[in-house]
Amino acid sequence: MKLNVRQGQIQNEASDLIVVNLFEGVTMPGGATGAVDAALQGMIADVLASGDFKGRLNATTVFYPRGAIQAKRVLLVGLGKAEKFGLDQARQVAATAAKKARELGAKTYATIVHGAGIGGLAVQDAAQALAEGTLLGLYQYKEYKKADDNGGEVGGVTIVEYDAAKLDDIQEGVRVGRAIAEGQMVARDLSNKPGNAATPAFLADTARQIGQEHDIQVTALSFAECKAMGMGMFSGVAQGSNEPSQFIVMDYNGGGPGADTVVLVGKGITFDSGGISIKPTDGMWDMKHDMSGGAAVIGAMQAVGALGLPLHVVGIVPATENMLSGTAFKPGDILRAMNGKTIEIQSTDAEGRLVLGDALCYAARFKPQAVIDMATLTGACMIALGKHAAGLLSNDQPLADKLKAAADRSGERVWQLPLWDEYNEQIKSTFADMKNTGGRGGGAITAAAILKNFVDFPWVHLDIAGTAWGEDDKGYNTKGATGYGVRLCVELLRGWNR
Ligand code: BES
Ligand code: MN
Ligand code: ZN
Repeated sequence: MKLNVRQGQIQNEASDLIVVNLFEGVTMPGGATGAVDAALQGMIADVLASGDFKGRLNATTVFYPRGAIQAKRVLLVGLGKAEKFGLDQARQVAATAAKKARELGAKTYATIVHGAGIGGLAVQDAAQALAEGTLLGLYQYKEYKKADDNGGEVGGVTIVEYDAAKLDDIQEGVRVGRAIAEGQMVARDLSNKPGNAATPAFLADTARQIGQEHDIQVTALSFAECKAMGMGMFSGVAQGSNEPSQFIVMDYNGGGPGADTVVLVGKGITFDSGGISIKPTDGMWDMKHDMSGGAAVIGAMQAVGALGLPLHVVGIVPATENMLSGTAFKPGDILRAMNGKTIEIQSTDAEGRLVLGDALCYAARFKPQAVIDMATLTGACMIALGKHAAGLLSNDQPLADKLKAAADRSGERVWQLPLWDEYNEQIKSTFADMKNTGGRGGGAITAAAILKNFVDFPWVHLDIAGTAWGEDDKGYNTKGATGYGVRLCVELLRGWNR
């Protein structure tokens, strides 16, 4: 979809629709909204006076200008309370407007940048949020189905700004926002794709293709290669599936010598049946999304490449199904990780920590300054935090704080959980160095406590079980995969050298 930037006055745009905005509680519109109101002889002020539109966040109302201006429709969207306004509200408002424009059948529309005026956002940031919200809000996964009947397709959006001095910043914000949103949509596409199509081999092919387009070295190690390297946990999970596993490594070298290395690791279980410890029928279909962490890594790598960030960034995705079969691993089995540690299997459904553990061991070879892993790891994390934040666990508080700052800016929230040594008691095993489940208490934490055994660098674990997909069709999220983690990681990396 096209996103053009142009100097001009929004009330003069000839378009299917123009978008203006208003904060809650404003009685007399100013700025661009005021100019449109004047051109419409006070239509907007009338609606405000009637109390029918209060400016609540994401509220919309449509005006028909009857020839007073060239645009066919005017869409007024609420920004909510000024004191609660920030980048995420700008992102949401952009998505709300885009969805409404599509519903109205607008093929093109023009919009102002939300929040750069009295909203107080930096112009470039506001433009980035506008691009992200617009593209992500219009996202639909329609590979297997006609698009839902929601009005058709928006072909192009023109961002109109009166102040010529702001245009360069807006252009730059749009460039960044587009790269990030496109990466996030790659992640959504992969995660939404059913397990019979989004196989480990498909993930590897996608990674290779992205690698070619963005100058990223991509390799995928086979099952035999992983086994020979001592990845007993990853191959233990993979051995039960007929779908060949792939250990995907994407190596982007955008920094000169001496640049920092950051490794992103993503859980790539393309379907989690639970294995011999099989899951109940209900909801098992959602386990096609169990590679959402891996999808976020692949999407983030694309964005990093597109933006040409001056860093060494490595993406690792251990990809396999978790299946039951005559060759599947079993409860009671003991597996040996790449770093030599042993783990007794109590549940084959606690497979994410196994594949991630070997991937974290592998990450050590890059001598990273930081490693971030993302995984739909535990139902317990979803119980703890719901769908509004990922669980964050870390062995390095400065790095954890950097992620929190990136979360604030990207709108992909995190909430830190403790990783005290006391939790290690719960994963002690009679027969091996540890066991792979920690009982009922603190399930998201004991999972991270297991991962910690495979880490010897600054590390953050993000449990995205609650945030990776949802039923919500609000704002910039659509039903199904969210692509959570792409904006967060790219924001972290963009600010890395600051
Ligand atoms: N992929 C699941 C976690 C999950 C469940 C994510 C539901 C999103 C929604 C993971 O592999 C798993 O099965 N975890 C178990 C661990 C338990 C056996 C210790 C869980 O959370 O129940
Ligand atoms: Mn599982
Ligand atoms: Zn899983």
